[in-house]
Amino acid sequence: MNDSEQPARIDELRKEIRFHNYRYYVLNDPIISDVEYDRLMVELRKIEEQHPEWITPDSPTQRTGAPPADGFTKMRHPAAILSLGNAFDADGVRAWYERISRLDERVQGTDFVVEPKLDGLTVVLHYAQGIFSRGATRGDGDVGEEVTTNLRTIRSLPLRVPVQENKVNIPETLVVRGEVFMYLKDFEELNRKQAEAGQKTYQNPRNTAAGSLRQLDPELTASRPLALLTYDIVASDTFSWVTDRERLKFLEDLGLPVVEWTYCANIDAAIDESLGLINQRHNMPYEADGVVIKINDLDLATSLGVVGKDPRSAIAFKFPALEVTTQLLDVGVNVGRTGVLTPYAILEPVEIGGVIVKQATLHNFDYISEKDIRPGDRVLVKRAGDVIPYVIGPVVDVRTGEEKPYLPPEKCPVCDQEVEHIEGEVAWYCVNAACPAQLVRNIEHFVSRGAMDIVGLGIKIVEQLVDAELVKDVADLYYLSKDDLLKLEGFADKKADNLLDSIEQSKRQSLARLLSALGIRGVGEVGATELASQFGSIDKLLAVSVDDLLEIEGIGPNIAMAVVDWFRNPTNQKLLQKLSKGGVSPTARPIPDQAVTVQVFAGQTFVVTGTLPGFTRQQAKEFIESHGGKLTGSVSKKTSYLVLGENPGSKHAKAQKLGVKIIDEAGLRELAS
Ligand code: IVH
Repeated sequence: MNDSEQPARIDELRKEIRFHNYRYYVLNDPIISDVEYDRLMVELRKIEEQHPEWITPDSPTQRTGAPPADGFTKMRHPAAILSLGNAFDADGVRAWYERISRLDERVQGTDFVVEPKLDGLTVVLHYAQGIFSRGATRGDGDVGEEVTTNLRTIRSLPLRVPVQENKVNIPETLVVRGEVFMYLKDFEELNRKQAEAGQKTYQNPRNTAAGSLRQLDPELTASRPLALLTYDIVASDTFSWVTDRERLKFLEDLGLPVVEWTYCANIDAAIDESLGLINQRHNMPYEADGVVIKINDLDLATSLGVVGKDPRSAIAFKFPALEVTTQLLDVGVNVGRTGVLTPYAILEPVEIGGVIVKQATLHNFDYISEKDIRPGDRVLVKRAGDVIPYVIGPVVDVRTGEEKPYLPPEKCPVCDQEVEHIEGEVAWYCVNAACPAQLVRNIEHFVSRGAMDIVGLGIKIVEQLVDAELVKDVADLYYLSKDDLLKLEGFADKKADNLLDSIEQSKRQSLARLLSALGIRGVGEVGATELASQFGSIDKLLAVSVDDLLEIEGIGPNIAMAVVDWFRNPTNQKLLQKLSKGGVSPTARPIPDQAVTVQVFAGQTFVVTGTLPGFTRQQAKEFIESHGGKLTGSVSKKTSYLVLGENPGSKHAKAQKLGVKIIDEAGLRELAS
């Protein structure tokens, strides 16, 4: 190795350490011992000590990392962040009202404010001259943990109060209290993405929100869809409000996000409003675990005082529990579009909060074994808001002894082919490319722009083709006739011709594109390009071994095994033959414009950072390659040019540091002309 050349090992180490950080801090599920982890860090530190010029700001060594629980600075709150007493029904609320009426006669006939009680994580936010300066979790009510950097990543938290001109004066100091949580639709979206990537899904919005805020890595927090609503002012130099309602309006006038609140003229109205919210709980966009009823008159509220940590002036009217037990009749398995198998519970139908629940999520197969959930068990099921109900766990005490541990299926429930599980990953996959459950998704990927680029074949048409059984695998696309297409709704002469034309053109796409189009797990555009240039033909790949593949930079054992398995699978082999018979011959002839373009970039390497105005990443890659250049992923001294787009990443600074030439998209086009 040339001394100035950065070894691949450094990237490998960083990638591996990040992965283990994630397992440890995010999933709470490490798969290596602390000693093994330390060994990786020591190795990385050693290389970086010898070559400080290789240190990047995002290297795991650059974080002053301590375990998260002790990793935050403690922060004392300017006033005690109190808790709330509970009531569980209307009678409980009336009893509270009677109690405080006896303490102060002003309570009789007083008015209230009612709010949904958000089930998230309480935070205390400090604003200095209207600018968010720092923030903490509630902690024990007196001292919390400072999580300023993480709070800054929450998009609904204004970094500067966006007060309308003249509406209110911005206080010099302002400390507000609010709740950090996740909207249900964002939580579901997050879980959908996790499942698609074969990762563990999160159990509920509250724990996910709380866990996300207490991350040492703010980038992780930023990647979670957290939201904020405020409801109280803890301290301010302009304490002039007489009522809670005025105080909430003031928060609104400052432009802070404020919880939905309702003014109620007396206790009956407050109870009515609360019961209404209880009925509506499933229509709320977030998880709430009750309502808060607060006395509106702040002077009266203060004079009522505090019992323990609960102010007497407010009460939490808790929603009835949404957890019930029922029988787990069986475990069903869905096959997702990427081939991920997902288990779900088939339940003895049961009513939870006014809705009959027959199915619930079991997250993934690891979850089932960790919780030892067995078919036939009595299980605890929770339904919260619109979140899909989930199985919390079995009620072990009532087992009959007949229940047997559940084992994941060996065959795909849809196509009956063997399923695969990779050590260390959560997901189980069906790897049969012709599995009907995956077909539409496979075709969609096959024809996409970065792959075979068949113009005019959108998802709707793909679905039509699959529904009409004209296409049972991707190769069938090359056997479609005009008559076939004309049978489909919405197809006339011209549309059919155009589609057949672009299918025809795709036959001459490069081997790299074909490999990427086949959707072999772990083989994206970069890997496919590498495989194509190393092996040159499908025939060679059919005979490839894991060892051959491990020789290639960027291919680790998991991908190597996935590639070998894919090419050894008889169904996939038949598919390749069928593609070839259908006329797909990737090595036969390069795409025409590549052949005629002058190779002005020969021998030069490019790195792109940020978004380019006129190119997608794929188009930039093709542009560079069609002129004979190479596009790589990271900047080194060998990089010829950094192409700078909008919102560039750390590569920009690195290129500046190393003195790499920096150009924009126009500069790139100019170079080529
Ligand atoms: S008012 C003096 N309003 O729930 C009363 N609290 O279990 C101040 N909470 O510690 C609290 N949503 O942090 C209020 N809309 C809401 C709330 C809310 C959530 C939290 C609060 C409290 C906890 C009590």
